Amino acid sequence: HSATLTLDPAFVVGPVRRRTFGTFVEHLGRCVYTGIYEPGHPTADADGFRGDVLELTRELGVSTVRYPGGNFVSGYRWEDGVGPVEDRPTRLDLAWHSSDPNTVGVDEFLRWSKASGTEPMMAVNLGTRGVQEALDLLEYCNVPGGSFWSDKRRANGAADPYRVKMWCLGNEMDGPWQIGHKTAEEYGRLAAETARAMRMMDPNIELVVCGSSSSAMPTFGEWERVVLSEAYEHVDHVSAHAYYWEEDGDLASFLASAVDMDHFVESVAATADAVRAAGKHTKRINISFDEWNVWYQQRAESRPPTDDDWPVAPVLLEDRYNVADAVVVGNLLISLLRNTHRVHAASLAQLVNVIAPIMTEPGGRAWRQTTFHPFALTSKHAAGEVLRVAVESPVQETTRFGDVPVLDAVATHDAETGEVVIFAVNRSVTEAVTLDVDLRGFPGLQVVEALTLANPDHTWQATADDATSVLPQVNTTAKVADDRARAELPPVSWSVVRLG
Ligand code: AHR
Repeated sequence: HSATLTLDPAFVVGPVRRRTFGTFVEHLGRCVYTGIYEPGHPTADADGFRGDVLELTRELGVSTVRYPGGNFVSGYRWEDGVGPVEDRPTRLDLAWHSSDPNTVGVDEFLRWSKASGTEPMMAVNLGTRGVQEALDLLEYCNVPGGSFWSDKRRANGAADPYRVKMWCLGNEMDGPWQIGHKTAEEYGRLAAETARAMRMMDPNIELVVCGSSSSAMPTFGEWERVVLSEAYEHVDHVSAHAYYWEEDGDLASFLASAVDMDHFVESVAATADAVRAAGKHTKRINISFDEWNVWYQQRAESRPPTDDDWPVAPVLLEDRYNVADAVVVGNLLISLLRNTHRVHAASLAQLVNVIAPIMTEPGGRAWRQTTFHPFALTSKHAAGEVLRVAVESPVQETTRFGDVPVLDAVATHDAETGEVVIFAVNRSVTEAVTLDVDLRGFPGLQVVEALTLANPDHTWQATADDATSVLPQVNTTAKVADDRARAELPPVSWSVVRLG
C-alpha cells in the first residue's frame, strides 16, 4: 500500500490562522470549578487559577477561548458574576441541571485569559435575553469608562477596558434543546438587531452568528440561508458545530469523520455565497467552527442530573479518549487547515475536564489525554501558508461515507524559515501505508523531525496514572531521497513530518 502526495509552493489555500487553535470554557461540569479555577489547589495563583492547567493550556498552544457557553449561556445572567463574590447569587443552570455559585464570572475569566495568554471570545445570551443585556455586557467589557456599566467594571478592579474582539450572538439557537430556541426567522432578526446595536457601541468587534449545531440537523443549510438573509451585513462569521464518535463498533466510518467536516464547511460556504449573490453583498461571510471534537454523547457521563439534584460542578461529559479518538482529532485539524480559506476561527470543545484534552483531579494532578498531542503539535508546527496537496491513495469502504481515501493530509509552508510540514493520517483499520511525497517543488529539503501517534491497541486510553506510555514517537522510517519523502504510516495513526 502506497499513497502519494504532491506539494508545490504555488498551490496556496490561505494563511495558517492562529485562531484555528481555539478552545472553549463553559460553565459545565468541572470545566470552570476544579478545572481552570480551584482556590486552595497547591498550584493555584492569587486569583485561584490552577497553575498546572495554565501551564498545560500554554503547552497545548491555545489561541482563543470561547466563554461562558455553550448551552449554559442561553440562561445566563452575566451581572450575577460581577462585583463582590460574597454578594453573588447561586443560580440554577437549566441546561446542565446544575447550580452555579457565580464565583467565576466575566472579570475572573478575562483575568484567566490574560494569564493564559489567550484571546477571549465572549458569547451573549440570546435565549432568555436580548439586545439590551448584550449591550450592557459589551459596555462592561469594552467601554473605557464614564458610563454605568463601564464604571462598575472600574469599581470592580479593572481600570482598563478588556476590548474583547470576538462575540458570539447566542449559542446553537437552531437546537430544540436550547433554552429560548427560535425559528431561523426569529433568530435571524434578533441576531441582526443585536449585532447592529453592538456595532453602534463598538465598531471594532467581530460578530459570529449561530449556524447549525450539526450537519445532521433537519434545518441544516436552510437555517444558514434564512439567518444570513436577515443578518448578512451585520456579522462577520457564521458558526458551525460538529461532534463525532465511534458508533456500533464502526471504526472505519468514525476514522473518516473529517469527510463530514469537509462537507459541512463546503455546504455552509456555498450557502453564505448564495446569500451574498442574492443580496448583492460584497463582503464574504466566513466560518467560525467554534465547537468540534470527539464526544460520546450516549454515555452516562453525558447525562445531566435530574429531579431535586442540582449539584455544583458535577462530573459531566468527562470522556476518556483513546488512540483512535486522537487520530480523528488530528484529522479534523487537517480538515480545518485545508479549509483555511473559509474557516477563519475554530474552537476545540472543550479545554478541561469536559470532553477535553486536559483533565484534572480536584486537589490533585492535571494530565494530558491522547487528543492533547495532535492538537499541541499541529498548533506548534503549522506555520505560514496552507498548501493544497494532491493525494492519490488507496480507499477503504465505510458504511457512512462510501469509499474513503485511507490517507488524508495537509501541508504548511513557512516562507520565512523554509520549513514544510506535513500532517497526515492513515485511516486504514488494518493496513500500514507508505507515504510517498513528491517534493520536486521544494528541492533540497531534509527530514527535521517525524512523529507518529499509533498503538497496536488503538483503544488504549491515557489515565492520571499512565498518561505517557503511548505518546507520539519518532518515526524512524521517514527519509528523503531524490526529492521524495517517504514514511511508513501504521494503521489508525496520525503523523507530523517536518522538512527543512
Ligand atoms: O460542548 C458541549 C455542548 O455541546 C455545548 O454546551 C453546546 O453548545 C453543544 O451542544
